[in-house]
Amino acid sequence: MNAICQRGLFLTFEGVDGVGKTTQAQRLRDYLSVRGLTVVITHEPGGTPLGEAVRRLLLEPSAPHIGKRAEALLYSADRAEHVADVIRPALERGECVISDRYTDSSVGYQVGGRELSSLDIERLSEWATDGLQPNRTYLLDMDPAAARRRFVVSRETDRLELEPEPFQNRARRAFLDLAKRHRDRIVVIDASRRVDEVWSAIRTDVNALLATRKMGS
Ligand code: TYD
Repeated sequence: MNAICQRGLFLTFEGVDGVGKTTQAQRLRDYLSVRGLTVVITHEPGGTPLGEAVRRLLLEPSAPHIGKRAEALLYSADRAEHVADVIRPALERGECVISDRYTDSSVGYQVGGRELSSLDIERLSEWATDGLQPNRTYLLDMDPAAARRRFVVSRETDRLELEPEPFQNRARRAFLDLAKRHRDRIVVIDASRRVDEVWSAIRTDVNALLATRKMGS
């Protein structure tokens, strides 16, 4: 198993919908680029042509009904392609990859939300990614109901965002439980604060990480 890629730097953002992952991922991309690192910013589901097709299938409210096992397999198929075509090649070139969601989202949503077996989902993720794990994961945590209120009113809501509050609360709990089991990788950030404060917490951690890996100085 190839757990952590020794070349490059793989960073992920996780959390329930509306916590501000995309904004923080973009800030981090800009910050690392200014420090001279080559950065690839990407997301799941999506990030490859196959992934974008899978994303439409999974998330458009008009998509056909998808059972929870099929849903888990589709997220995994998307991820397998994403790792093989985008993430691993960039890491092997020594670049920095920032992904908006990765395997932990399957624990949050398919294990927490859909109540599938955590062992099954972890095995599926391990197989799909050939064991590739991030160097660091920023779990942006806040109450899902408060996060939901932040959605831009006009923004089209996708299928999982239409799931009721207990689903989102279970997802949040599953993310937090996972963080407790992976304290060395997952940093929990209180995302209910202002964007600048959240960013400052991430920047502090990433600076420490870069120093240990002697990158970006
Ligand atoms: P996301 O791209 O974060 O949504 P948006 O672009 O609308 O901010 O994620 C789409 C949805 O997919 C989100 O509700 C979480 C869900 N999801 C899973 O259920 N399992 C997974 O493994 C991943 C990656 C996402």
